[in-house]
Amino acid sequence: MVAGSLSLALIAVAALVVGYVTGLPASGPSSSTAAEEQTPTPRPAPNALPAPASVDTFDRAARSIDDPTSIWVVVNKLRPMNPQDFEPLDLVEVPVEYTNEPLLRQEASDAVVAMFDTALGEAGLELASNSAYRSYSAQENVYDGDDLTTARPGFSEHQTGLTIDIGPLSGECSLDECFGETPEGIWLRDNAWRFGFILRYPADKTDITGYTFEPWHFRYVGPDLANEMRETGVTTLEEFFGLPPAPDYG
Ligand code: DAL
Ligand code: ZN
Repeated sequence: MVAGSLSLALIAVAALVVGYVTGLPASGPSSSTAAEEQTPTPRPAPNALPAPASVDTFDRAARSIDDPTSIWVVVNKLRPMNPQDFEPLDLVEVPVEYTNEPLLRQEASDAVVAMFDTALGEAGLELASNSAYRSYSAQENVYDGDDLTTARPGFSEHQTGLTIDIGPLSGECSLDECFGETPEGIWLRDNAWRFGFILRYPADKTDITGYTFEPWHFRYVGPDLANEMRETGVTTLEEFFGLPPAPDYG
């Protein structure tokens, strides 16, 4: 009898030890709670693949950078308007405040109106156009001989009908570098991409664009490209499209 009791006691101890090692309660799996059954420990799928790296699918060849009617056309000191006397066919009067009556291509005009309305609605800022489309002959009057600040006739992207010089309605700092520090200049710098515009002549890119900082000069390229340039952090058209820097005329 004593030997039999001892055997039973040993079996009971062994069962407890096995339960401890396997993590199962000695009384067996039937004692697990309902919550444990409903929330099993997640395990990776046997053949799980790593998440794919994000791929930049932006098509940089989707539009022409040579055709003067393309909203991606690149005009600089090495890339004159072609033809030299190009005039857009869809110029319209831009219905905004101005110092010189502005004309732009329809798409760019609509974007300017939306941008000015949003600057007022979101930030209470009143903007005005100082200059927009300029023909070849108009640029003859603008060019002042300083190649760092004005383009020679036939080389200004104002001739595309896609470019606008913007200032505050008050006129404070208009066409001056200090515009970049005004609420209007800061708002445009940060928000123009939403409407398809880029700040075409950044402060740190004179060696590439050929022009000193123009915080007032915005170029319409469409929301897709403006957003892509913002997301990639590429700030000039020359760099984005892999074009040579254009600090000087060829
Ligand atoms: N101020 C710019 C560079 C132009 O004249 O087109
Ligand atoms: Zn300009």
